[in-house]
Amino acid sequence: MSDAKTRYAEIHERSLRDPQGFWGEAAREIDWFEPAKKVFDPSMGIYGRWFAGGVVNTCFNAVDRHVKNGRANQPAIIYDSPLTDKITSLTYAELQREVEALGAVMQDLGVTKGDRVVIYMPMVPEAPIAMLACARIGAIHSVVFGGFASKELATRIDDAKPKLVFSASCGVEPGRIVQYKPLLDEAIRLASFKPDACIILQRPQHECDLTAGRDHDWASLRQKALDAGKRADCVPVLATDPLYILYTSGTTGVPKGVVRDNGGHMVALKWSMFNHYGVEPGEVWWSASDIGWVVGHSYIVYGPLFHGNTTILYEGKPIGTPDAGAFWRVISQHKVAALFTAPTAFRAIKKEDPDGALMKKYDLSCFRTLFLAGERADPPTVEWAQARLQRPVIDHWWQTETGWAIVGNPVGIGVLPVKPGSATVPMPGYQVDIVDEAAKPVPAGTTGSIVVKLPLPPSCLPTLWQQEDRCREAYFSEFPGYYKTSDAGYKDDDGYVFVMGRTDDIINVAGHRLSTGGMEEILASHPDVAECAVLGIKDDLKGEIPCGFLVLKSGAARGANEVESEVVGMVRDKIGPVAAFKRAVIVPRLPKTRSGKILRGTMKKIADGEPWTMPATIEDPKALDDISTALQVKTPEKA
Ligand code: COA
Ligand code: AMP
Repeated sequence: MSDAKTRYAEIHERSLRDPQGFWGEAAREIDWFEPAKKVFDPSMGIYGRWFAGGVVNTCFNAVDRHVKNGRANQPAIIYDSPLTDKITSLTYAELQREVEALGAVMQDLGVTKGDRVVIYMPMVPEAPIAMLACARIGAIHSVVFGGFASKELATRIDDAKPKLVFSASCGVEPGRIVQYKPLLDEAIRLASFKPDACIILQRPQHECDLTAGRDHDWASLRQKALDAGKRADCVPVLATDPLYILYTSGTTGVPKGVVRDNGGHMVALKWSMFNHYGVEPGEVWWSASDIGWVVGHSYIVYGPLFHGNTTILYEGKPIGTPDAGAFWRVISQHKVAALFTAPTAFRAIKKEDPDGALMKKYDLSCFRTLFLAGERADPPTVEWAQARLQRPVIDHWWQTETGWAIVGNPVGIGVLPVKPGSATVPMPGYQVDIVDEAAKPVPAGTTGSIVVKLPLPPSCLPTLWQQEDRCREAYFSEFPGYYKTSDAGYKDDDGYVFVMGRTDDIINVAGHRLSTGGMEEILASHPDVAECAVLGIKDDLKGEIPCGFLVLKSGAARGANEVESEVVGMVRDKIGPVAAFKRAVIVPRLPKTRSGKILRGTMKKIADGEPWTMPATIEDPKALDDISTALQVKTPEKA
């Protein structure tokens, strides 16, 4: 065995044999007001709680302690926005001054420990400042991705019941300004719960009117707090108190509010920065995601700041801002040591610049490693990136629920050989098993459900926000003693894990997690639709895109084309542009089993152009021809 393999095996084995010792040591990297009474208390919560009784503050660990320890003048955040032609940076000392002032502004508005605050913002420095200011005063933030429409925001407002909302006048997307204020106003109108106040950042690209009595101008409040010398102190919270709620797609239109605690989150993320990502404090780190997703929470904001890195906040795209060399420009200009992004970004770059000609224009000598996650990293993309970059390209697999990698390749411990198509091996604390329907482990090479033996390691969800029963039911009941990931895959003889896809109706569109069930609820609400199904079908760029199949009511008032374009508009209005729902087709009937179950698997194979077999239980075989005809695809039926 190579050194890296031995070291990884020893560390992983120890983390499972002696979890308290392992994570207790990792916790020494964090500053605690009071250390935990127990590293792990199995009697608390659904499967136990990490760092029970510990008292901490997340913002102190992300900001203040670096100012105290010699990083005051090091850039903490570099904001690079090709969409607005702006590059600015904030040192750790400046970041501390901003979060102290904004924390004081929030306290003046009556926000205290345990209150929820929604953040609906574009990728500007004020967004992480708002997150950190919440953490500073013990408020629980809930960031909502800017590509979601009013109804999605309203659902989250009703669930989290925020006292305050942070938003902006607009976001900037290539070729268009996204006005946030009308979306926010409509969400507050739709929601039953009404926040007391909104703090709105006016951006020069589009200024909005403020609603009297509710809205406050961000810049004026900030300036007043600074002029008055107001500073919020770091409020001590329990390690087990929630730091944030992040909503993610469930199997219905109602999203799940994943809760992240303070203590375990810090310990796991701090551990991951060197051991998994191989970066040292002081280095420049870039996660090209959005703060609305878990990747943005963990690796644009918290992980790199806990570790004393400089983190890049990028408001742009991999292509078109201005070209497919955008990532190489950012890496060379800011001396980025490691980049984390979604495979879809690399598929986009590969399509525009297949030979990597633009890469050659930039000095990338600072750059060591590329990390990919958020969706399956297809081997051709991994191989393309590896060949062009001549550096390790590391796939890793995780979920909103875990907050950090379940399976990865521990670069700091020693890079293990990369097998394209595999996210490599379980990270410390995760015993990953592949099981059959009876929860029995299956042999190497056999596909099954991917589960994690309890207890889950630090940072993983302790519960869903005020929905403990839903949490038990969704994750901990089907496979007793395990956490159900809802992903399927297999392990090879070396213990490498291959994650192949979801076992539920979640689809992954350009690294964005979406519920087809949620889209079906919208389609079914159209007055002319009798029945519908939404499937994720293969897409060269985005991995998957949703496609709706509709059966019209007899005597439907509108024509087929009209209904198709109306439902596309409805999904964009209700979920948002991020759903990328652009295709709906009318079919005379949906293929079903004799017991009435829609044959989604077979429909997907036909849509993806893969060979398929006629299911023995099909009610009407002709219904499958209707699918091929509607999609204008002809795929072979296996003999
Ligand atoms: N606010 C408002 N609208 C947004 C938005 C935001 N923050 N983010 C995306 N959108 C819109 C886009 O403008 C687009 O709208 P359109 O249908 O009018 O064109 C739609 O949502 C879909 O966006 P996206 O999935 O980003 O597709 P795209 O075609 O704009 O770009 C890629 C394609 C591959 C370049 C892009 O998906 C990308 O960069 N992905 C990186 C991966 C990533 O960040 N993953 C997150 C998890 S790690
Ligand atoms: P999210 O919660 O938005 O991070 O999405 C999590 C889901 O994305 C997982 O359950 C997987 O289905 C998918 N996913 C994330 N990373 C990977 C990966 N490296 N390989 C395969 N699937 C992935």
